[in-house]
Amino acid sequence: MGSTVNSPSTPIIIPSSPLQTSFIPKTSQLSIFKKKKPFNFASKKLVSCKASDRNQNNADSSSINRLDRRDILLGLGGLYGATNLVSDPFASAAPIAAPDLSLCENSTVTSSSSGTSISVPCCPPKTTNIIDFKPPRFSNIRLRPAAHLVDANYLEKFTKAMELMKALPDDDPRSFKQQANVHCAYCNGAYDHVGFPDQPLQIHFSWLFFPFHRFYLYFYERILGKLIGDPNFVMPFWNWDSPPGMVIPDIYVDPTSPLYDEKRNVDHQPPKMLDLDYAGTEELLSKRDQIKSNLSVMYRQMVTYKTPSLFHGAAYRAGDNPSPGMGSVENNPHTAVHRWVGDKREPFSEDMGNFYSAGRDPLFYAHHCNVDRLWNIWKSLPGKKRTDFTDTDWLDSSFLFYDENANLVRVKVRDCLNSRTLGYDYQKVNIPWLKNKPTPRRPGRGSGSGSAMAAEANTETVIRNAFPIVLDKLVRIEVPRTKKSRTKVEKENEEEVLVLQNIRVDRDVAVKFDVYINDEDDETPTEPEDSEFAGSFTNIPHNHHNPGVKLDTNLTLPLSDLLEDLDIERDDNIVVTLVPKEGKGLVSIGNIKIDFVGD
Ligand code: C2O
Repeated sequence: MGSTVNSPSTPIIIPSSPLQTSFIPKTSQLSIFKKKKPFNFASKKLVSCKASDRNQNNADSSSINRLDRRDILLGLGGLYGATNLVSDPFASAAPIAAPDLSLCENSTVTSSSSGTSISVPCCPPKTTNIIDFKPPRFSNIRLRPAAHLVDANYLEKFTKAMELMKALPDDDPRSFKQQANVHCAYCNGAYDHVGFPDQPLQIHFSWLFFPFHRFYLYFYERILGKLIGDPNFVMPFWNWDSPPGMVIPDIYVDPTSPLYDEKRNVDHQPPKMLDLDYAGTEELLSKRDQIKSNLSVMYRQMVTYKTPSLFHGAAYRAGDNPSPGMGSVENNPHTAVHRWVGDKREPFSEDMGNFYSAGRDPLFYAHHCNVDRLWNIWKSLPGKKRTDFTDTDWLDSSFLFYDENANLVRVKVRDCLNSRTLGYDYQKVNIPWLKNKPTPRRPGRGSGSGSAMAAEANTETVIRNAFPIVLDKLVRIEVPRTKKSRTKVEKENEEEVLVLQNIRVDRDVAVKFDVYINDEDDETPTEPEDSEFAGSFTNIPHNHHNPGVKLDTNLTLPLSDLLEDLDIERDDNIVVTLVPKEGKGLVSIGNIKIDFVGD
């Protein structure tokens, strides 16, 4: 039992490389179990990893039984230190320029699991005449309504507008088909960076996410308004962050409506509750528990992310590799909603489950209106760093869209920062998640029995450099901290973050793995409502024109609130647990470290 490395019942995998003692910061070796408020590693007996244990597989049958549930790998993270983010020598290199439409190529869509591949023409009609964007003139701010609250009058207009858009000829850049292709082109490698013919342009996984989608919706809405002769028309938002909105809104599920799309998960029709922590499988939570879980996800992704880069995503400049790192909402729950709606019967999880096809589902636009609304809300929450970037490489990044008159317009990020300058805002509805702060699983742990457990653990913990890690099982890594017990002001100025570097996976694979801090290996899994749940990494399948090149990205998770809530701010180390939920064994991680973000 449990004798073979990599068999499901193996209690632990010990990396074969020798201990790299010289690289290990002194405080990190074993210090996790010597802290004042020890991490109560309930199952430490189970992770017995003394070298001699490798040949004593059956030493403790009860522990092995418990370990059958999870294989555990202990490694040492953060070998390369917990220094401040070094400023990028290429910073302010140049903003991403609007793509050259004449160089647009078909997109390739692949599925590495089935080996299928298709070539999809997503390029827009070409024109050489480009107009620079001017903010619209309007007399009043229009409020985008919550989709579940619209009245019959509104629905009639919206339905008519979508009908007319679907009736436009396919080669009209304002047609439903061409508008869906906009997403495919910007997200599935149809364009390269201007001047960098081998560098695919990807507007996800970076600071371009919010502004790109804001403009995309803006022009979509203008086209719909023009088609029904109502310049004040606004699109609805899918209010999935609030319980009444946690099902697909009724107006989208009538099969006779132009808002309907048959390529959706058949099991997720109303009244099925949306799962904002969705990882490809049904959770079978009660309605009440699902709401609680969803609101906790919302709280974490909105409230605990306090700086521009944590919220928006990583800097992405001309010539950069695509996908440097997602911001909070893009990662979660934005991805979960796409994956939850996408049709599993379809070869590429069409429509919502793959970037190339997501824009073919009218629900996509309501989903993204909510994402866009959350940008406004995030900036309105307290905190001096809840602002947009001031970096001109972000502000001057630009895109091209066809407007309601079929003119090609060049927009810049700086023109969309305030939705009110674009003439719209959102209907005010309750924001229930503001009250759903996650709580520690075991309030007050760390005193009493924890100390005995800690002493025992000292002899049983293997600390190794185990990177890169292939996430084919639960993995635990000890990560050293360099700054402890920081003051309130220090914490306001810089957020302590956990950085997972060089997360590599095929782009066409759906991925979700969860990250827990100092969780305990006991019978019940850590959930979004627990403080120990630091966040998740997710991927929506998509491709670039070089499908062999993997996604290679980073995940940055804020820790300051979590460390405070778990009362572990004075600790030398944290234990990071990574749990693959979807895409098991397909993801590798290059390194894990703690850093400080002050942007
Ligand atoms: Cu551009 Cu929700 O994806």
